[in-house]
Amino acid sequence: NSAGQAFSNQSDADPTQPSTRIAVASALSEFTAPDAVTARIAGTEVTDRTTALPGVDPSSGKPLYTWQAVGESEVELAVAAGLAGADRWRLLSPQERCDVLDAVAATMQSQRAETIAVMAHDAGKTFHEADPEVSEAVDFARYYGRCGMSLEPGFEPYRLVVVAAPWNFPYAIPAGGVFAALAAGASVILKPAPETVLVARHLAEQCWAAGVPDDVLQLVLTDDDSAGTRLITHPDVDAVVLTGSSATAHLFRSWRPGLNLHAETSGKNAVVITAAADLDDAIRDLVRSAFGHAGQKCSAASLAIVDGALLDSTRFLTRLADAVRSLRVGAGYDAATQMGPLVREPEGDLRRALTRLEPGETWLVEPEQLSGNPLAWSPGVKVGVQPGSHFHLTECFGPVLGVMRAAGLDEALELQNAVPFGLTAGLFSLDDGEVEEWLERVEAGNAYVNRHITGAIVQRQPFGGWKQSAIGPGIKAGGPFYVGSLGRWPTPADDL
Ligand code: SER
Repeated sequence: NSAGQAFSNQSDADPTQPSTRIAVASALSEFTAPDAVTARIAGTEVTDRTTALPGVDPSSGKPLYTWQAVGESEVELAVAAGLAGADRWRLLSPQERCDVLDAVAATMQSQRAETIAVMAHDAGKTFHEADPEVSEAVDFARYYGRCGMSLEPGFEPYRLVVVAAPWNFPYAIPAGGVFAALAAGASVILKPAPETVLVARHLAEQCWAAGVPDDVLQLVLTDDDSAGTRLITHPDVDAVVLTGSSATAHLFRSWRPGLNLHAETSGKNAVVITAAADLDDAIRDLVRSAFGHAGQKCSAASLAIVDGALLDSTRFLTRLADAVRSLRVGAGYDAATQMGPLVREPEGDLRRALTRLEPGETWLVEPEQLSGNPLAWSPGVKVGVQPGSHFHLTECFGPVLGVMRAAGLDEALELQNAVPFGLTAGLFSLDDGEVEEWLERVEAGNAYVNRHITGAIVQRQPFGGWKQSAIGPGIKAGGPFYVGSLGRWPTPADDL
């Protein structure tokens, strides 16, 4: 086994190597979607539904496959099977569980190109977004397996954990939740977002093929109806690991008061650019942070808070506009694409951000809906976002960046910290005094200096938020305490 080896991060594929490009191109051309994606409960496919729900290719807006949601009776079956699985899985040694997770990591690594192709079609992801996502998932498997080996005696894993996963990182985020629970010794029901069930099925198949038992990882597909509610509220579910909006977290809590919820939720993330910034670095990394995966990351930059003198000189805005206009927008599976499609049709706060200006705002780059696909949008930048305005304080989760003016670092920090969330934050400044002050005062779980604010690396940058960005114990994913948060610790009374 390899579990005795120390953890090190998995490197991404190297697209300068012809072998990488050939592997990815051939996986993309060989990709065929299954006709139907199904749930699998204790190894049995759920194939008897009368309603086929649509799975859409975001790059074309066209149907790609159908999928079948489970009913409440299958939720009961999954919970019963999961409990039985847990009673065997917890008897393995942490080393044995780590070995299984290492085997999962090896499978994921060997199928990297295929996984990139699945994410390109099901989630609109470009190579440059999907490839690091595979590395992150591999890291979660290896890292959490090793974390499981350092749990103290007396730790009692939860029996059954539900992982409710999002569509924006449809592979790495469910992988993280599933592997942490498995490493702790719990059994898992994975309930992916309805938008990306094909990626979730692909991930689950890799786990089963590598030795995770059928009843220790089950895939339950729901359309957020009564079956989904039953799953979250089931009394035998010990914990729910959710990555999603604050609204979803509050909804879960309203369904089940006292729910043991580990939620990483919304963000409204800002990058501060002071007069002492290196503008080449700042603009490149701001554009990457704002428009990577079309801004659909909880970690994405939604605001640039820029020193007034930089704004007055016009140098900053001219260069920002050029950089944003030069982004090639297209299909996730087209190698030339720099910004892929939206995964959901914009509504609510995102539609408002893409189509409306508030008092004081003007478009630097106006976003447009492209072609006949309601999911294809070009990136937008609005300037003159006002303190306290809707755009300043509300998550919009899409390809719109708002520019705000600050008279200096003090005011920039006030604007940055005024939002109710505290997930990621950035500063561009070459002034050590400014860096020190900003790090002292910024209210964000992940604070980055002179670099992009997305793409946290497992172990190196444990990921999680403050304020309304975390609901529950607020333990950071990819950090040393995450696996240990999925169980119970002995209390002093246990020693009596
Ligand atoms: N971990 C991701 C990032 O850092 C967000 O979920 O971008």
